[in-house]
Amino acid sequence: MKKILVIHGPNLNLLGLRPKEHYGTMTLAEINRQMQIHAAPSWELEFFQSNSEGEIVTKIQQSLSADAIIINPAAYTHTSVAIRDALEIFPKTKIEVHLSNVDQREDFRRINYIRDVCDVCFSGKLAESYLDAIEYLKKN
Ligand code: DQA
Repeated sequence: MKKILVIHGPNLNLLGLRPKEHYGTMTLAEINRQMQIHAAPSWELEFFQSNSEGEIVTKIQQSLSADAIIINPAAYTHTSVAIRDALEIFPKTKIEVHLSNVDQREDFRRINYIRDVCDVCFSGKLAESYLDAIEYLKKN
């Protein structure tokens, strides 16, 4: 069975309380459950959420044998060279995901340290962005 690591960055643990116009109404547990349903039976998902940049870097380093990473780095998308450098080391498919369309919001969200080390990005479709990532892995 193929293993996918799903990383959720800071504040995504509070989905449901965050601005609904950007992030929708689903909780992180509900999103994870939808992903699990889409991935079954051939893909095993491991979910990891952290509000800490260093913990995310360490998790990527510890998961180099996974078959793919789906990552929503949240605010670290726009600030973290460390997460970028860790992702660069990961040898297989890397998918960037966002609930909102980060390219059409504030200027500071257009700064993106992650995009060019990932294979593909799905954004702006709320929880569907994550499901698109699973579909991409099924086809590629
Ligand atoms: C986000 C977009 C980021 O700019 C923001 O900091 C987040 C969530 C998204 O999923 O739309 O926390 O990554």
